[in-house]
Amino acid sequence: MLICNVVGARPNFMKIAPIVEELNRRGLPQILVHTGQHYDANMSQVFFDQLGLPRPDIDLGVGSDSHTRQTARIMIAFEEVCQQHHPSLVVTVGDVNSTMAAALVAAKLTIPVAHVEAGLRSFDRTMPEEINRVVTDHLSDLLFTTEQSGNDNLRREGIADNKVHFVGNCMVDTLLKHADMAVSLTPWETFGLQPNAYALLTLHRPANVDDRDTLQSLLIALTSVTERLPLLFPVHPRTRARLAEWQIPLPNRLILVEPQPYLEFLGLMAKARLVLTDSGGVQQETTVLNVPCLTLRDTTELPVTISDGTNQLVGSDAQKIAAVVGQILAGRWKTVQRPPLWDGYTGQRIADVIEKWISY
Ligand code: UD1
Repeated sequence: MLICNVVGARPNFMKIAPIVEELNRRGLPQILVHTGQHYDANMSQVFFDQLGLPRPDIDLGVGSDSHTRQTARIMIAFEEVCQQHHPSLVVTVGDVNSTMAAALVAAKLTIPVAHVEAGLRSFDRTMPEEINRVVTDHLSDLLFTTEQSGNDNLRREGIADNKVHFVGNCMVDTLLKHADMAVSLTPWETFGLQPNAYALLTLHRPANVDDRDTLQSLLIALTSVTERLPLLFPVHPRTRARLAEWQIPLPNRLILVEPQPYLEFLGLMAKARLVLTDSGGVQQETTVLNVPCLTLRDTTELPVTISDGTNQLVGSDAQKIAAVVGQILAGRWKTVQRPPLWDGYTGQRIADVIEKWISY
């Protein structure tokens, strides 16, 4: 019996950490495979160090490429891993190319697949992640959902109820475990900022950053924030490359910094007055931290962060962004409750299901 956990990109690491820890505590044999989709130290290694994740047993080192070539390279390399180690279950997390590639390989070899964060849908197939979600879910034998919308989507797509396990949110386990430590690092001081007196920005979706006009108008729209608060912007490598290529003028008080390690970024989110983002993980984390989140997209695969949490979709509409920022700074913002099962025990619930499944 062997469980094979697969990670590849930055948002995967905080999702797998509580599962690896819990499987380890129960003495269940497991290996950790890193596809190498993200490879810069500040996009990968630092997360392993801070989260106490074991070094990957196998690093496929695939790196960056077009979606097809990256996915294909992961598949070829991961097939060899499966043929060598014969896992009884492949555990994939999230919605990145590594997630889908690993699920496809395992399914073709008739190895059962577990998908953590199943059922989420933005209903926008122009997002590469949406394709990854749909394919991975339909190849999976155990589907672990984070919110009710995930259960509803899977049922509507004809996936049998007995494969679906509503367990809550692994990323929240990791957040709750590290939040106090993250704040105690006072990471805002590094940038000369005061708690609750700055805004925080992340931006990396292809739809937002791969088109010059879109990126430029988004940055202009953010002047309604920078006129009122300093705006700290840890820049994803994809976005940094575009900004350099197009030499887009930047608003005053937009502070560009390197991608931040997990703890520093968590501390920065916790004490931000508001957060602007196009990331999925940040929409969830701000809900738990009770920090207003403006999502720079027209859709979200995480409706519970809107219905229960602090999230609001603002797209790239400058007027809407200005209006919502004004409301937040005037102290008018919705009351929040933490979504069901976002309680810090999701890793344990997943391990319970896996342990029972294995013993059959
Ligand atoms: C990927 C995920 C996205 C996730 C994001 C988090 C897919 C389809 N997308 O997007 O869902 O939200 O990770 O960051 O899987 N690069 C580096 N160093 C690195 C990694 C990337 O410089 O360590 C640069 C490369 O130029 C690369 C580009 O960033 O081409 C994009 O990386 P890639 O992994 O293809 O997608 P992300 O945009 O990071």
